[in-house]
Amino acid sequence: MEHTPHSSDTAMSDPDLANHQASTSATRPVFRKPRKIVGNNLIFRDATKDDAAFILDLRTDAKKSTHISKTSSDVKQQEAWLEKYAADSEQVYFMILDRQLQPVGTVRLYDIVNDSFCWGSWILKDGTPSSYAIESALLVYHFALRMGFQQAHFDVRKGNQSVWKFHERFGAVKTGETPDDFLYNISRAAIVASLEKYKKYLPDGCLIED
Ligand SMILES: CC(C)(COP(=O)(O)OP(=O)(O)OC[C@H]1O[C@@H](n2cnc3c(N)ncnc32)[C@H](O)[C@@H]1OP(=O)(O)O)[C@@H](O)C(=O)NCCC(=O)NCCS
Repeated sequence: MEHTPHSSDTAMSDPDLANHQASTSATRPVFRKPRKIVGNNLIFRDATKDDAAFILDLRTDAKKSTHISKTSSDVKQQEAWLEKYAADSEQVYFMILDRQLQPVGTVRLYDIVNDSFCWGSWILKDGTPSSYAIESALLVYHFALRMGFQQAHFDVRKGNQSVWKFHERFGAVKTGETPDDFLYNISRAAIVASLEKYKKYLPDGCLIED
């Protein structure tokens, strides 16, 4: 697992965002895998092999899996994937936990292209409060800006209308399409605007603990 030297725990505030842009725009950002990221009602924790059964349940759920890539139902394969993931510094896979530290979903950041990152594998358990979707997206963006990213890209299945509408409300712009997917990009300016617009979901930013 990658461990990049960094400063101790800090909460992200708006001045942090402004300063960060100036200091990192010339470099290719990289991910690190923090132990956890503490938000408002949600906490992100780095996924481990022990999360294989939960992830598998989520990814093979008939309703939840309609618009995501197929996953083998073999838990051993999932464990192997997570073991390989632990040594991969090019992606970060988070378990999304509620305040009781119960897992409620997953999200993954990957595919660094210059100063852009892709995110996906975004799934929340059925029955989670409706604010969790927005807070988890805000946490993804807070973390990514902290890592120095300036934009994000992702694709969403054309049939996954509620999700591409979600991203469009956040300011993502459609940049193309394939037969199955819409391709999107979201700029740093749009991300920062959404962090402000949806501040009530994450009023104090987040704490990144390494
Ligand atoms: C992707 C996923 C995590 C999003 O979570 P979600 O709860 O479905 O997200 P929603 O778009 O319904 O948003 C949640 C709530 O916030 C509201 N909301 C969403 N964006 C909003 C915005 N920008 N402003 C105000 N409200 C907003 C929604 O209206 C909804 O409220 P409601 O429950 O009262 O209708 C979830 O749908 C999921 O697990 N899907 C299966 C896997 C998948 O397809 N993942 C995406 C591919 S990577």
